[in-house]
Amino acid sequence: MHERLAGNPLIMAPMAGVSDAAYRIMARSGGAALAYSEMVSVAGLHYGSDKTWDLVVPHAVEPDIAVQLFGSEPQQFEEAATAVARRLGDRLVLLDVNMACPVPKVTKGGAGSALLDDAQRSAEIVRACHAGLDTVRSGVPVTVKIRRGRRMDEEVAPEFAMAMEAAGTAAIAVHGRFANQMYRGEADWGCVERVVQAVKIPVVGSGDVYTYDDAQRMQDVTGCAAVMIARGTYGNPWVFSGRVPTSTERIEAFSTHVRLLDATGAHMARARSLAGWYFKGMPGAAMWRRRAMECVTAGDFLRLSQQIQA
Ligand SMILES: Cc1cc2nc3c(=O)[nH]c(=O)nc-3n(C[C@H](O)[C@H](O)[C@H](O)COP(=O)(O)O)c2cc1C
Repeated sequence: MHERLAGNPLIMAPMAGVSDAAYRIMARSGGAALAYSEMVSVAGLHYGSDKTWDLVVPHAVEPDIAVQLFGSEPQQFEEAATAVARRLGDRLVLLDVNMACPVPKVTKGGAGSALLDDAQRSAEIVRACHAGLDTVRSGVPVTVKIRRGRRMDEEVAPEFAMAMEAAGTAAIAVHGRFANQMYRGEADWGCVERVVQAVKIPVVGSGDVYTYDDAQRMQDVTGCAAVMIARGTYGNPWVFSGRVPTSTERIEAFSTHVRLLDATGAHMARARSLAGWYFKGMPGAAMWRRRAMECVTAGDFLRLSQQIQA
């Protein structure tokens, strides 16, 4: 893990509803050192639904994966950690615990950013993950992803990070917004820097990194060991290499992405948002996006790409 990030410190962030196998394959081919699953419910894994496992298991062409879990019960994390380690073997790079999600559906059950108010339970969750993993394979890192705090101007991140480090967390990702900000305002990179200063483990910075240069700047300003990119990857897998694609390359990448969605069995509706992202800023973008809204099958989307290029 350390060697991987020393060579290339840019990571594809976890994004529910977005970072599926096709998305991760595009990000890795664009230069991401690592890509995360969408967040996965430990309760869902407990009930063993195929739909939940689909979020966890990487496609055969993915080299490996970081799996992110969410929940609130340490016992369920222990069980999930064992099950994930068994199923993924050495393709599991790390197990991450979501302590950042601000969505009420998640926090009202005590998961996601609600954990920022309960360092003791969060530490228990980290230890439970280790216990679960160790029954299968020792040495799999457990990491956590946090926000500044739950409520505006009540920053807990540095202190909370120290508690997670003491509990055995191998690295910590920090999104510099409070949970109740959702995605409003600017991410405070100062918070990332304060966490870097508070702990010895590697810190991964997250928030408002839209370009390769932003990522370099975040590392320079905060001293973080790696940078996670989420929205900056929309229609732009090249963000990980800093290369600026031509319009033709963008359309071709969209077609490849559509084929990957199809090949990995994803719902083709996902291609509609992809079209909006890949076509952004192109001549006639608004019209092409409207046309994409009418597409249903992979063939429809591929024909649209051909028409744009004609
Ligand atoms: C659509 C969407 C879904 C997200 N889902 C997750 C998630 O499942 N787990 C998580 O830890 N963060 C999630 N995030 C947060 C991102 O990983 C990231 O921390 C945040 O968007 C800030 O980075 P950015 O400015 O690069 O987008 C999500 C963000 C977006 C926009």
